[in-house]
Amino acid sequence: MPLFDVYPLYDVTPVRAKGVHVYDTNDQEYLDLYGGHAVISIGHNHPEYSKRIKNQLDKIGFYSNAIQNPLQVELANLLESQSQCLGYQLFLCSSGAEANENALKLASFYTGKKRVIAFKNAFHGRTSAAVASTDNQKINAPLNAQQEVTFLPFNDAKELENELAKGDVCAVIFESIQGVGGLDEPSEEFVYQMEALCKQYKSCLIADEVQAGFGRTGTFFGFQKYNIEPHIISMAKGMGNGFPVGGILIHPSIEAQYGMLGTTFGGNHLACAATLSVLETLEKENLQHNAAQMGVYFKEQAQQLPRIQKIKGRGLMLGIEFDFEVGELRKKLIYDHRIFTGGSSNKKLLRILPPLSIEKKHIDSLINALKTLLE
Ligand SMILES: Cc1ncc(COP(=O)(O)O)c(C=O)c1O
Repeated sequence: MPLFDVYPLYDVTPVRAKGVHVYDTNDQEYLDLYGGHAVISIGHNHPEYSKRIKNQLDKIGFYSNAIQNPLQVELANLLESQSQCLGYQLFLCSSGAEANENALKLASFYTGKKRVIAFKNAFHGRTSAAVASTDNQKINAPLNAQQEVTFLPFNDAKELENELAKGDVCAVIFESIQGVGGLDEPSEEFVYQMEALCKQYKSCLIADEVQAGFGRTGTFFGFQKYNIEPHIISMAKGMGNGFPVGGILIHPSIEAQYGMLGTTFGGNHLACAATLSVLETLEKENLQHNAAQMGVYFKEQAQQLPRIQKIKGRGLMLGIEFDFEVGELRKKLIYDHRIFTGGSSNKKLLRILPPLSIEKKHIDSLINALKTLLE
């Protein structure tokens, strides 16, 4: 049976991984500055993480959300203290799209409204309301056109107010740093305007932290660069370090009702064990702080490179925008220098999304490889 051929693949077959490296079938080492698209947070195959998941598997790997699961409570408490999202409630699911789907649905339940405002170049996932809120017509099927979504540019508070004033908007969903879209950020002023306008017009502000969350940008969530309280915060990717887990944090003002949201797999014992281990390791190894510091170092070093237009992002959610398209450069980095990097919908942007445990010497390897390739 053939695989449904939706992914253009690089000719590399990783079979094992450790820390910031992956190894192929010939045991060739690659430096992973892509993290499987911002997923690897505490490092590949972290010993404490593997131990915790294995131990959990030997006890109980899965049961559905019909029973008491103290691991979920432990996770909620640790997440509250580490994120400092005090009083928020936790709902667990299994992916970023599912997190956003639940966030949007909850906003609609809560407000009784149904139109969504999203932003130009946004990416929120591939399920129904999430994909409709993604600014890419190519991945929206005719079926998805049933959702009512309006796309606005960042930083136009007047236009945002015009739309909210129509009274039918359940949610404004935004990425504090756009991921797939190419690392653009709303201005500080606009972030506060979004929060105030959502309150004024009784719409929910949803922070999509699927990619930026869990320490990647140097704060626990990317939006925490500002002093705002979104109604809902969606998470996934780095949360499980490769274990498929996602979730939403829900402001204390939103009350749960039985049956409102649900999932079979979300919050299962293995997913909780993986996420608990990620949180503990982030704290123990001070990885959020490392992400902030390494981001500063990267930006200093990247200045030396030729043909740069812009260096974008924060912490370890970074990109270098060149004056040419980077597809060929990324291939040379993989095949000639054994370095994985990421792309984005901005074809000139080389993206860097490494494990948060990365060290200066790894950044130096990339800079040296780029210098050689761009000479
Ligand atoms: C900001 C953002 N939201 C949502 C998603 C969707 O996450 P998933 O692929 O886990 O469904 C992504 C994936 O890249 C993302 O970057």
